[in-house]
Amino acid sequence: MPAISFQSVCKTYAASRGAKSPATPLKALDDVSFDIEEGEFFGLLGPNGAGKTTLISVLAGLSRATSGRVLVHGSDVQADYAKARRLLGVVPQELVFDPFFNVREALRIQSGYFGIKNNDAWIDELLESLGLADKANANMRQLSGGMKRRVLVAQALVHKPPVIVLDEPTAGVDVELRQTLWQFVAKLNKQGHTVLLTTHYLEEAEALCSRIAMLRTGQVLALASTSELLRSASSNVLRFKIDGELPPALATEARVTGRIVQLPAHGALEIERYLAAVREAGLKVEDVEIRKADLEDVFLEVMATEKGKKWQMAI
Ligand SMILES: Nc1ncnc2c1ncn2[C@@H]1O[C@H](COP(=O)(O)OP(=O)(O)O)[C@@H](O)[C@H]1O
Ligand SMILES: [Mg+2]
Repeated sequence: MPAISFQSVCKTYAASRGAKSPATPLKALDDVSFDIEEGEFFGLLGPNGAGKTTLISVLAGLSRATSGRVLVHGSDVQADYAKARRLLGVVPQELVFDPFFNVREALRIQSGYFGIKNNDAWIDELLESLGLADKANANMRQLSGGMKRRVLVAQALVHKPPVIVLDEPTAGVDVELRQTLWQFVAKLNKQGHTVLLTTHYLEEAEALCSRIAMLRTGQVLALASTSELLRSASSNVLRFKIDGELPPALATEARVTGRIVQLPAHGALEIERYLAAVREAGLKVEDVEIRKADLEDVFLEVMATEKGKKWQMAI
């Protein structure tokens, strides 16, 4: 039985956010179907507005799908809400917290929601593992954003859920927290917990996730193992620095970050063509290298596919 099963999930918001009247409905999820197996470390990737948080809200039972359904270990998140909810530990994207309690109190209250008494041994372990041990008695409003994020993670885990869902847990947090968090989540995954993660950091997803779905405007465009995705990249990447503006013919194909230019390179002839074009434009080229495509290259390639055309890949 899959840990999570998304079955033809559609979600239409009556009015798109920030839309002026007349209200236009917005299809945030468009027939999303895939399963996540028990014990997987699964990545859900997509640009802002792709529908990642909406999918997680539907999974967590916080938002109702317009059609389709979601099962957690076979329990329907709507019809069998309490059972499904107990199986899930959800770390929300938004920092929501109750400012009146200290960290330990917040975690005890959360344990209470699940009917768990005397949870202090596990709460201590959570505090320790997340680098919060010295903050146990600190009031929630005194904590920095990064520390609040750690408490949200601890809160999601008080009932030792078999399925852990993290919605952009590392957006805007420091490197140290990212390391602590990943070590801890990877350990839980090794112990058998299923992990569903959304992130903007593609190198994080590449390092951690064994399988990945890529979402754009509510549709799954790619779904495969991380290694299959990396293998599917159509090319290597030619990377160099320039001291001026790239000729327009190359600019449309290139990924440009400041002075760094990266171009998909299918072979020696193409590399020669690129470098000749840059030379003819009178630009000085430095630090030329060729590297293997990474997940970010694959992501950009997938996102550039035509709408409706699924990424050709064995699932
Ligand atoms: N409560 C809402 N009402 C109307 N539109 C919404 C609401 N929540 C999200 N949306 C819209 O749905 C789309 C998907 O949003 P979201 O799920 O937050 O994407 P992501 O998490 O991938 O950035 C966006 O266009 C967003 O503006
Ligand atoms: Mg989101």
